[in-house]
Amino acid sequence: MTEAVQTPLVEATHSKRVFSGIQPSGGLTLGNYLGALKRFAEAQNQGIETIYCIVDLHAITVWQDPAKLRQATRELAAGFIASGVDPARSILFNQSQVGAHAELAWLFNCVARMGWLSRMTQFKDKAGKNRENASVGLFAYPNLMAADIMVYHATHVPVGEDQKQHLELTRDIAIKFNNDFGVNFFPVVEPVIEGAATRVMSLRDGTKKMSKSDPSDQSRINLTDDADAIAQKIRKAKTDAEPLPETPEGLEGRPEARNLVNIYAALSDKTQAEVLAEYAGQGFGAFKPALADLAVSSLTPISDEMQRLLQDVGEIDRILGEGAERADAIARPILEQTYEIVGMVRSRRG
Ligand code: AMP
Ligand code: TRP
Repeated sequence: MTEAVQTPLVEATHSKRVFSGIQPSGGLTLGNYLGALKRFAEAQNQGIETIYCIVDLHAITVWQDPAKLRQATRELAAGFIASGVDPARSILFNQSQVGAHAELAWLFNCVARMGWLSRMTQFKDKAGKNRENASVGLFAYPNLMAADIMVYHATHVPVGEDQKQHLELTRDIAIKFNNDFGVNFFPVVEPVIEGAATRVMSLRDGTKKMSKSDPSDQSRINLTDDADAIAQKIRKAKTDAEPLPETPEGLEGRPEARNLVNIYAALSDKTQAEVLAEYAGQGFGAFKPALADLAVSSLTPISDEMQRLLQDVGEIDRILGEGAERADAIARPILEQTYEIVGMVRSRRG
């Protein structure tokens, strides 16, 4: 006799829900702000549920000093709020406080294939030549990222360009899970890689991503930089000798010029074309001071607000705790359904 299928054929409705995460690995750059935080805040105004996570479990895939990790988690929470993420309108929390992420990640460890993960360029970059010595967590990291998203049935994930490959893997995991178990349970996510600043480049080399791990502090603008530092870094940013072109096509082959135009566009909510319409024909002697003013007036209120919020760590922890409870209320039932689908006996009461 064949056993009756226990699992109700779960057909999720997959209404629109935004999820994204940032690692508390210390320091936020203009790239994080324009590629992620600013857009997270904007997504709140679109009438969609928004869930934002400080992914502390991801951070420990490479060594983190415990005291610094705690500090970086609180700083990042302050960075989210100062950038406009409102804990009343969004769910803001740190990953380790919602156990469902790690539990679903284990199930996904058993869905994703070694070959898929071996192709992840971030793993290759981060592990470098010393692969044998990389943590297993660093290798399995994209499965945890897929779990972060899928445990909320999130459908839209705003990230910078560098996360595109991980989101493709998330889609592959959702599709394979659905196929393996004959369900339509996990949604296939849409990466939201939009805007003028999905890839903010180094101020010293327009072909390299602006990153908190670049050894040169001159290569990036930190959200904690003061007005003088911001203005000085923009003044010294690498450029070429040509004036700004009439149209975006004229930025071809000029990575540094393009980067500064993109930063200006993203900070002022304009397109490249609109910025060029204003500055075409002008040299960097005119453009850089305008950009510096714009950057200072956009970023200093954020760093001031971060400092203010960090005066009250208890309040930050309270916000994260409350966010975690709200996140858990969504994640737990989805995880429970997943266990049912996979065939785990779930008989505990409470
Ligand atoms: P990370 O700092 O690498 O953990 O990245 C956190 C978020 O910021 C992710 O959504 C990244 O895609 C985004 N991000 C990081 N650096 C940049 C950059 N230079 N340009 C645009 N987005 C970035
Ligand atoms: N991997 C992302 C990064 O390094 C952070 C992250 C973890 C994330 N989980 C996520 C981003 C889920 C979006 C959705 O930046």
